[in-house]
Amino acid sequence: APVDRVFSGIQPTGVPHLGNYLGALESWVSLQDQYSSVLYSVVDLHAITVRQDPAALRQNTLDATASLLACGIDPSRSVLFQQSQVLEHAELSWILGCLTSMPRLCHLPQWKMKSRQKSQGSVGLYTYPVLQAADILLYRSTHVPVGEDQVQHLELAQDIARAFNRQYGDLFPEPRALLSSTRKVKSLRDPTAKMSKSDPQRLATVLLTDSPEDIALKFRKAVTDFTSEVTFDPEGRPGVSNLVAIHAAVSGASVERVVEEARGLDTGQYKQLVADSVIEKLRPVRDEILRLRAEPGYLRGVLVEGSDHARQLAAPVLSSVRHLLGF
Ligand code: ADP
Ligand code: NA
Repeated sequence: APVDRVFSGIQPTGVPHLGNYLGALESWVSLQDQYSSVLYSVVDLHAITVRQDPAALRQNTLDATASLLACGIDPSRSVLFQQSQVLEHAELSWILGCLTSMPRLCHLPQWKMKSRQKSQGSVGLYTYPVLQAADILLYRSTHVPVGEDQVQHLELAQDIARAFNRQYGDLFPEPRALLSSTRKVKSLRDPTAKMSKSDPQRLATVLLTDSPEDIALKFRKAVTDFTSEVTFDPEGRPGVSNLVAIHAAVSGASVERVVEEARGLDTGQYKQLVADSVIEKLRPVRDEILRLRAEPGYLRGVLVEGSDHARQLAAPVLSSVRHLLGF
């Protein structure tokens, strides 16, 4: 039986935000205690599906690395690496792409969304789910922490693993989803949309490097409604419910408990309370990101070592793939 192995990746598109932290990075850290083999990749091949400035990409790769380390990813327990430095990802992606039918790819919801948004998009913007499958299968990964929006992509990876095994011989375990139990963090300016790096609205997104003053301001300006009481009703009152959900996630308490604690506060006072809890939670993370950012040589060293390690794991798997294919 294959060993349990966790794989996940984050795009180097800037410093992660509070949604990334609560929805993904926090659980990535605890998975280090639960699994003996854990890989986290800064997936820069995924970042070039849209145009990238090379200097910014280089900086963003280091920022993502600093952020993962600051959150608690420990390079002695996790293989923390840069995707583009392990050439096997690209080769396996091509091979798996040849096992994937166009209709299967076009059925993914992201495909439909993207073709509506930008018909001028690159080929990579459409085929990146195949690269994701390669990222996962290259390490014969068994568990993949994902958000709900990524479940269909993981199903594609499962389908591709099955198709490969059927056609060429049993090689890949079917990777299973480790679904995040955290509710999606919403934009502070439009609580019907998720908090996202690409949100053009100022004040909508809390970055892990935001100063306490920035965080306080963003929560002060958070969109709520005209009811001053604090209740949890995501459909009817998305704004204040987002604050409650953030507060619960940050403090590790239940939503009920948090609402109980907020009894007697109006939403204005409550925003300040939530801001304070976020500030305290992020303070050590922010301090550590800022410290590590000043040490680019150290960050590069971590990535070089991690990428060497990842390559050692990937090479024998790709070599089996090549042999099975007849190369
Ligand atoms: P973004 O969606 O901001 O571009 P990524 O796609 O790089 O961020 O997501 C990295 C991880 O963070 C994924 O596991 C994703 O599910 C999670 N994530 C992203 N945005 C949120 C959010 N608003 N709330 C909770 N989790 C999120
Ligand atoms: Na995402």
